[in-house]
Amino acid sequence: MPDKQAAAAIASGLEGIEAGTTSVCSVEQGQLLYRGYEIHDLAEHATFEEVAHLLLVGHKPSTSELAAFKRELAPLRNVPEWILDVVRRVAPKSHPMDALRTGVSLLSHIDPDVADNSLAANLRKAKRLLAAIPTVIGAGQRAIDGKATVAPDPSLGHAANLLYVMTGERPSDLIARAMDVSLILYAEHEFNASTFTCRTIAGTLSDMHSAVCGGIGALKGPLHGGANEAAMEMLKEVGTLENVRAFMDNAFATKRKIMGFGHRVYKNGDHRAPILREWGLKLTKERPQFRKWFDIGDAVQKIMLDEKKIHPNVDFPCGLTYFTMGIPVPQYTPIFVASRITGWCAHIMEQHADNRLIRPLSVYTGPAKRSWNG
Ligand code: SDX
Repeated sequence: MPDKQAAAAIASGLEGIEAGTTSVCSVEQGQLLYRGYEIHDLAEHATFEEVAHLLLVGHKPSTSELAAFKRELAPLRNVPEWILDVVRRVAPKSHPMDALRTGVSLLSHIDPDVADNSLAANLRKAKRLLAAIPTVIGAGQRAIDGKATVAPDPSLGHAANLLYVMTGERPSDLIARAMDVSLILYAEHEFNASTFTCRTIAGTLSDMHSAVCGGIGALKGPLHGGANEAAMEMLKEVGTLENVRAFMDNAFATKRKIMGFGHRVYKNGDHRAPILREWGLKLTKERPQFRKWFDIGDAVQKIMLDEKKIHPNVDFPCGLTYFTMGIPVPQYTPIFVASRITGWCAHIMEQHADNRLIRPLSVYTGPAKRSWNG
C-alpha cells in the first residue's frame, strides 16, 4: 500500500503521465507544433481558417481547398431560430459558457449525422459546429445587451464574423487580425483537460456533440480556459499601477492564485503568451486608453517572475487583448471555444478512428473491508 500511495502522489493530477498518442499536436522539445507546424510560424503566416483546415482535414489547404472550405462553412453559420430563441432566453441569466453549452447540445438535435461516428460524418459535424458556434455566442451576447440578433455575414472570416455577430459592427482589419491570431493560438494544445475530456467521452463511442458539451464544461473552469476571464477580473481588481505591490503581497500572504499564470507543462513560459501580448499592444496604439492595463499586467508579471519564477500563460495576454477590443469579459472563454472546437473535433476524430475505451485505475484510500451489520 505505501508503494501504491507513493505512485499515486507522483501522478497527482496525472502530471507527467503520457496518457495516449496523437498526431494532432506536440508540446515536446520546447516547441508547440500543430501537425508539425510551429506556433510562431502559424501566428505569423497562417489564417485561422487555414489552421482549422490543417487540424480538421489533416493538412495545410491549397488555395482552392481553402476557398472550398470557406464556401462550405459560410452557410453553415445559419442556426435555426428556435435554437437561437432558447439561447436568447437563457443568456441574460446565465454565464455565456452555460448558454453556449446549451446551444451546442441543441445543435445535436438538428444534425443529421449526430449518431454517426465515421470519419466522414465527424468531419461534417465538426464543420457545422465550427461555423455555428459564433452565431450562438453572438445571439447570447446580443440578448444580454437587449439587442436584436445579428445574422452572420458570409463575406467575413471566422474571426471578423465572430466579432460582428456579437457587436453588430464589422471590426477594423487590425482588430480582426488580432482576433484571428488569438484563435490560431487557442486552437489546439494536445492533452489539456478539456481535450482529454472530449477524448474520454468519445472513447465510450459516444458522439461528437456529447464530447464537445463535456469539453465546454471542462474549459469553463478557472484553472483552465476560464482563466482568461479571471485574469482580467483580477487586473480590474488591482485597478491601478500603484496598487500592484499591495495586491501581490496580499495574494502571496493569503496563497491566492494569480490568474493567467503558471502552466502544467510550460515551466519556462508559454510560447503563445508573448505573441498575443504583442498583438494586444498593437491594439493599444489605436486605443491608448487601454495601455494602462498592460502596464499593470507587466508589473504583476515582473513580480511573479522575480519572486515566484512563474510565467504568464496564454490566458493572461488574452484577457488584456480582448478587454482592449471592448469584448465583455464573460465572453472570453466562449471565444476560446470558437477556436478550440477545431482541436477538440480533431482529437474526437482521432479517438474514434482508432478507439480504445479510456478507463484507468485508482488507488483505493478508503476504509478496509468491514461488515454492514457490524
Ligand atoms: C490553460 O494544459 C493546457 O494546455 C491548458 C491550456 C490550453 O491551451 O488548453 O494551456 C489553457 O488552461 C492555461 C492555464 C490557465 N489557468 C490559470 O491561469 C489559473 C492559474 N494557474 C494555476 O492555478 C496553475 O498554474 C495551473 C492550474 C495552470 C497548473 O497547475 P499545476 O500544474 O497543478 O500546478 P500547481 O497548482 O501544483 O502549482 C505548482 C506551484 C504551487 O506552489 P507550491 O505549492 O509548490 O509552493 O506553483 C504555484 C502553486 O501554488 N503556482 C501558483 C500559480 N500557479 C502555480 N501560485 C500563484 N499563482 C499561480 N497562478
